[in-house]
Amino acid sequence: MKRLTILVIILAVFAAFCLGQYGSGVSPPKIIRLSEPRLTGPLSLEQALARRRSVRRFTNRGLDLTQIGQLAWAGQGITEKQRGFRTAPSAGAIYPMKLYFATGEGLFIYNPYKHSLEAIINQDIRGRLAAAALGQRPVANAACDIIITGSERKLAYKYRNKAGRYMLLEAGHIAQNIQLQAVSLELASVTIGAFNVMSVSSVCGLPADLEPLYIICVGYPTGQTTIEKAEKEKETRKTDSAKAKRAVLIIASGNFRDEELFETKRELEKANVETVIASTKTAVLKGMLGNRAEATILVNDITVDDYDAIIFIGGSGASQYFDSRVALDIARQAKDKQKVLAAICIAPTVLANAGVLDGVRATSFLSERGKLKKAGATYTGAAVEQDGLIITGSGPKAATKFGKAITDALADR
Ligand SMILES: Cc1cc2nc3c(=O)[nH]c(=O)nc-3n(C[C@H](O)[C@H](O)[C@H](O)COP(=O)(O)O)c2cc1C
Repeated sequence: MKRLTILVIILAVFAAFCLGQYGSGVSPPKIIRLSEPRLTGPLSLEQALARRRSVRRFTNRGLDLTQIGQLAWAGQGITEKQRGFRTAPSAGAIYPMKLYFATGEGLFIYNPYKHSLEAIINQDIRGRLAAAALGQRPVANAACDIIITGSERKLAYKYRNKAGRYMLLEAGHIAQNIQLQAVSLELASVTIGAFNVMSVSSVCGLPADLEPLYIICVGYPTGQTTIEKAEKEKETRKTDSAKAKRAVLIIASGNFRDEELFETKRELEKANVETVIASTKTAVLKGMLGNRAEATILVNDITVDDYDAIIFIGGSGASQYFDSRVALDIARQAKDKQKVLAAICIAPTVLANAGVLDGVRATSFLSERGKLKKAGATYTGAAVEQDGLIITGSGPKAATKFGKAITDALADR
């Protein structure tokens, strides 16, 4: 009988404890293990810093556990297991801060040691949280509100009257980590400092020891993400600047090198660069491998001002331009007029003979190395070499890379 009374008392105390801890209408804690955080991302730190902005309008799309886990890790994740050091610094490594996550599913507390979430309330409290934050809509509409809480008492053991200040500094570190991580996850966020401390504590059922310090609303922004926007702008800039550009490909009237013409041409056209083939005959001409291409203008008729890029294609026939007064003059004009000037395989010798490679880093088919050096070039032997607006290629195998280098040089102008 006495044993039964003791058992009943223990059960009653336990039940009272559970009620006090989790409130009414709430089930016991559910533990959610989070996946390992990723340690690489699509943005540099500098890009994340440059793109961070407070965003207050979110779509109603929720976050998945991988995203929540990553945000939790950014705020308080353990990065040095032996001593338990974390992503954010802490005065005396005391770690007095705790992160709560309010989502559509309820309220969860982050456990950095297990990298897991523990359910505290199984109800959506974001509306009530918004009311406690002076009715701020982002708090109600965000997929997730991260509440940074801290215990001044824990710091006060060591830091006494500095404890309050240190706690706020720690909240700042954590918030910044989380906001930058959100950018890197293509999510938007805003930090909320304006709220009623007592109300937030009560809505979240915080223990007396923990003070809510900051709320970070995170979600999908309405409209394009900052990363999508930046990528799109970059792409548009690239296509725009490559658009309306013209390149003339100068080939030998016989025995031009097929891949060097066709792959270079393909790369240029992929980037919307208009191409024209020039030679000493306007006719269908044959490459070393038997492929045919039609030259539609004469080298004699080339007006350098009409083009953004002048390209000498190689192949054994290209030697016909080595001493061509017209070809050498075109190369010189191209350099003077700051056009993209390119040559591949044996054709860099045209540039060397025109005197435009003096002091320039260049490459070519190996047979031409001596001629380039003699003309003052720094011969690198690379597949493709670029020095300012002069691009040289070593031969057929480097043709695609050569074409890309020309395209990029045109896009940058
Ligand atoms: C301590 C602090 C408290 C803030 N509180 C709120 C807030 O309650 N509500 C809000 O919409 N923004 C809040 N903000 C966000 C600022 O309004 C925002 O950082 C500022 O307008 C600059 O814009 P940016 O973050 O895009 O650079 C807070 C920012 C800080 C640093």
